[in-house]
Amino acid sequence: MNTKILLIGKNGQVGWELQRSLSPLGELLALNRHSTAYCGDLSQPEQLAQTVLAYKPDYIVNAAAHTAVDKAESEPELARCLNTDAPSALAKAAAQVGAWLVHYSTDYVFDGRGSHARLECEGTGPLSVYGRTKLDGELAIAASGCKHLIFRTSWVYATRGGNFAKTMLRLAQERDKLTVIDDQHGAPTGADLIADVTAHALRQVHALQNVALSGLYHLVASGETSWHGYASHVIKEAKRTSPERTWRATEIAPVPASAFPTPATRPLNSRLSTAKLQQTFGLVLPPWQQGVDRMLQEIL
Ligand SMILES: NC(=O)c1ccc[n+]([C@@H]2O[C@H](COP(=O)([O-])OP(=O)(O)OC[C@H]3O[C@@H](n4cnc5c(N)ncnc54)[C@H](OP(=O)(O)O)[C@@H]3O)[C@@H](O)[C@H]2O)c1
Repeated sequence: MNTKILLIGKNGQVGWELQRSLSPLGELLALNRHSTAYCGDLSQPEQLAQTVLAYKPDYIVNAAAHTAVDKAESEPELARCLNTDAPSALAKAAAQVGAWLVHYSTDYVFDGRGSHARLECEGTGPLSVYGRTKLDGELAIAASGCKHLIFRTSWVYATRGGNFAKTMLRLAQERDKLTVIDDQHGAPTGADLIADVTAHALRQVHALQNVALSGLYHLVASGETSWHGYASHVIKEAKRTSPERTWRATEIAPVPASAFPTPATRPLNSRLSTAKLQQTFGLVLPPWQQGVDRMLQEIL
């Protein structure tokens, strides 16, 4: 691919992995909010658009967002700027230069009712400022007329930085008993998987130059679990692979989400159907345990 790729948010969980997966595809300009030669700051939508108009990329990948879900409840204007206005500006600029825009969204656009895996075409109903502003970002991109791939994902983890699994590992060494939410269901999804699927999709988009591929896709690992199931798996696997460590936790008690009140309400059902993504791009998404076990091998 003799192409120019602009990556925004290079140091987030997904952004970091995208630096790896996108680099063989072409000339990669990777920015974060502090970049100077070009603006990569989502709080400056007009300057972001200028970056696109000046660099003229073939592909823009936006991995940055306001991801502090609870904090967004008390700073809705900033969340809206980062999650709606900035993607909107990127999309309009992408349409101007003819670039594809790759963007990430979330299971939090849904209201969490029911127990089935949601399709892309189903109605939304965000329960939080984060979910609302992410949904409005999706809608703005679709309305801009730019060619786009929007990947809705869930429960993202990465080897780099903090994550739920690391917290559980620490607590399992500090406490005899853990209490973990068991009435929210979804699929833990590795940032590396998201980045690799993104690169795979971009290769196909580039080879086929088929505008019909433009649209919204659910991108999560296969299978499903609860936070309790996730924690139980992580601790069992850690005890198996690292028996030399002191694992104090002998009980992992399931509790409802109502036991841990948070400013933002999370959906109970975060199951997402990935049939459209798998069929369109000829992909097989691995079971969530595969990526989690790999991450555990790396961090333990
Ligand atoms: N994490 C999840 O569980 C989850 C679930 C569903 C969907 N998603 C979506 O997946 C995408 C990637 O998420 P992630 O987990 O990789 O998030 P992350 O690790 O929290 O990274 C977010 C990135 O956004 C950057 N950022 C924040 N404000 C910025 C600004 N004003 N200008 C430029 N960059 C800014 C952060 O930069 P700094 O490092 O400088 O703070 C960080 O690098 C996001 O669209 C998110 O909404 C995430």
